[in-house]
Amino acid sequence: MDKIIVRGGRRLAGEISVAGAKNAALPILFSTLLTDQPCSVRNIPDVADVRTALRLLSDLGATVEQDGADVTVEARELASWEAPYELVKTMRASFLVLGPLLARVGRARVSQPGGCAIGGRPVNLHVHALQQLGAEVELVHGYTEARAEKLVGAHVQLDFPSVGATEHLMMVASLADGETTIENAAREPEIVDLADALRSMGARIEGDGKSRIVISGVPRLSGMNHRVLPDRIEAGTFLIAAAMTAGEVMVRDARPDCLHALIEKLREAGATIEEHEDFVRVVSSQRLRGVDIKTLPYPGFPTDLQAQMMALATVSEGTSVVTETIFENRFMHANEFMRLGADIALDGHNAVVRGTERLSGAPVMATDLRASVSLILAGMVADNETEIRRVYHLDRGYERIEEKLAALGADIERIEGARG
Ligand code: UD1
Repeated sequence: MDKIIVRGGRRLAGEISVAGAKNAALPILFSTLLTDQPCSVRNIPDVADVRTALRLLSDLGATVEQDGADVTVEARELASWEAPYELVKTMRASFLVLGPLLARVGRARVSQPGGCAIGGRPVNLHVHALQQLGAEVELVHGYTEARAEKLVGAHVQLDFPSVGATEHLMMVASLADGETTIENAAREPEIVDLADALRSMGARIEGDGKSRIVISGVPRLSGMNHRVLPDRIEAGTFLIAAAMTAGEVMVRDARPDCLHALIEKLREAGATIEEHEDFVRVVSSQRLRGVDIKTLPYPGFPTDLQAQMMALATVSEGTSVVTETIFENRFMHANEFMRLGADIALDGHNAVVRGTERLSGAPVMATDLRASVSLILAGMVADNETEIRRVYHLDRGYERIEEKLAALGADIERIEGARG
């Protein structure tokens, strides 16, 4: 198992480019199952979750050709309608093939995703929505099995603006008979990107990016040619890293309009942020002030940047209160920060962080994707050496992160095949 060693004390400076968004690439790749025509998806990130998605597509019978960040998928005929446990357990988002398979061949069998380190992650909203469109769905031996002779548009009110359930519904409703309305839909930029991709296949979708999305089903979809939007979480991670190391970094291919909540918080903390059409520049020369954050559905502060922001809070001046409202158990990184000398009190969904001048390097363990990157950030402001184990979590969603941070001046290296 690989591990990462970070030696703290360097200031980040220079320019960095952001990869395509993993969380947009995955549903867009799965939506290629909705057509028998070739789909070209560009700017996909080179991360483990994308490789898992491509493997799943080819297991299902699609032809997958990859040339760097560009992929062509042609699901002319499907060989299977099943997503096995082995794949779904490594990546929950694989559950999103259920709807496209159902819409394309009238049946699907997908392993029920389990919980994960950040808490139980049910799929009740997905299942309920598919049932409302006329699917019969049951749980059999750990698999969600769905069948539908015909899918019919419906009025669906989501109890919570779930990103996955909204994506699932947009894909299925695109091929259903008649009109589907999603109320309380998720508004994340990745939803808009998926809607753009589906529209390029001929889908009729309106209102994406707002709470009410209306989809008029069409009898068939064509191939697509789509470029995935930049990863706002990777971009945000670099902004936070630069700000907390008193650095000066230009983050290229970032869309500042998708990063408002973070940019406001970094300004409040004392960093200077310049927003341009497709890049953001951050400059910070002094110790930042602690700021409170509360994670919320978009356009609120993203839960996927909570751990990185908590890393920043551990070395800021004063106290920060971090409130997590999206996931039930997303403070695993806090215990690892405490091993580095951070002063954090946990109380349910709140973490009270009292900033210290400097952390103290130690071996730590990554528990999930965003936690692992937050430990790298903490290591960059710690004395001595921080060793991060279980970095396979990191590789699920960050493309060559250690190379990118090293190019900005971080003292970081990957030790391949290390024990533990
Ligand atoms: C997506 C992102 C993930 C991000 C999350 C929230 C992908 C591949 N992943 O995950 O990185 O952290 O959005 O921004 O895009 N819930 C239910 N029932 C359901 C569905 C969700 O109770 O049927 C709950 C979840 O347990 C969680 C909350 O709703 O507490 C948010 O989940 P959701 O928005 O669906 O996140 P994902 O799509 O899984």
